[in-house]
Amino acid sequence: MIALTGASGHLGQLTLTHLLKKVPASQLAAIVRNPAKLETDRHVGITIRMADYDDRDALVEALDGVETLLQISTSASGPLASRQELNVVAAAAMAGVRKIVYTSTLVPGPEAIFWAGQTCAATEEAIKDRGLAYTFFRNSMYFETIPLFIGTAVQDGQIYYPGGDGKVSFVSREDIAEALAGVLTESGRHESAVYRITGAEALSFADLATRLNAGKGLDAAYHDIPEADFAAELAKAGLPQDDIGFTLSMAASIRAGEFAAVDDQLEKLLGRKRKAVGDYIQEL
Ligand SMILES: NC(=O)c1ccc[n+]([C@@H]2O[C@H](COP(=O)([O-])OP(=O)(O)OC[C@H]3O[C@@H](n4cnc5c(N)ncnc54)[C@H](OP(=O)(O)O)[C@@H]3O)[C@@H](O)[C@H]2O)c1
Repeated sequence: MIALTGASGHLGQLTLTHLLKKVPASQLAAIVRNPAKLETDRHVGITIRMADYDDRDALVEALDGVETLLQISTSASGPLASRQELNVVAAAAMAGVRKIVYTSTLVPGPEAIFWAGQTCAATEEAIKDRGLAYTFFRNSMYFETIPLFIGTAVQDGQIYYPGGDGKVSFVSREDIAEALAGVLTESGRHESAVYRITGAEALSFADLATRLNAGKGLDAAYHDIPEADFAAELAKAGLPQDDIGFTLSMAASIRAGEFAAVDDQLEKLLGRKRKAVGDYIQEL
């Protein structure tokens, strides 16, 4: 059986859709904390099991009989994120899962600037330390984060973000889901593989403004604002301190080039061209 954590999220549901084209529903289990969030009409016949990342016993139970687990990284941040992800890994080992396919981030490492890079590094290490078979998807930023970065630029043309000249190799979440479904169902392949999953090109925020101008006839401009001003705006919007820290770590990571790498691995997995970021921007 193949199981997915984070199955009710965007990536999880897209991956389930692709998995259902490859294997019978009876071989798939969605592990969720809230079944109401799973669009069951899209995923008819799959098994639904309940477990919160904070509840190791429930995770062990939910993973009973699972051979391959897609561990989708948690949406929490900081120490809580690490605790939750290590819980999933420990539960998988206890339940006898053979292999974990884990969605990591493009530059994981104990010294990563992006906080999630530190979390993902610890999770990757734990999976290896437990002796589980693995495949790591080190994902760049999704296309779908672009609207979050550019704010209202599609209306007023102004992008405010402390991203410097940093580039991001934005990648389609839909493409990632299709590639994950392939890897999850190609038994015996992709063992101990570490894949950098990126778009075909990396764009700076100034490039994003240029693309908006070309694609949508806007007069967009990028303003590289000081980090302190950005933090003050986030605080004014009521973001908790930890979330502000996480968001600032992402900006600093982008400025330092942690999301700039471009790799053709995704196209090898898909056996076709990736979706183009220019087309995504055009449709915004
Ligand atoms: N590469 C990128 O650009 C990017 C951007 C955003 C996030 N991410 C990472 O990639 C992951 C998948 O992306 P996504 O777009 O699918 O995110 P998403 O839509 O926010 O989905 C997150 C999933 O994690 C589940 N979850 C969170 N906390 C949990 C807990 N304590 N116990 C059990 N389940 C829990 C959520 O369950 P509920 O439905 O119950 O909330 C949801 O199913 C994210 O979680 C995050 O780590 C990457």
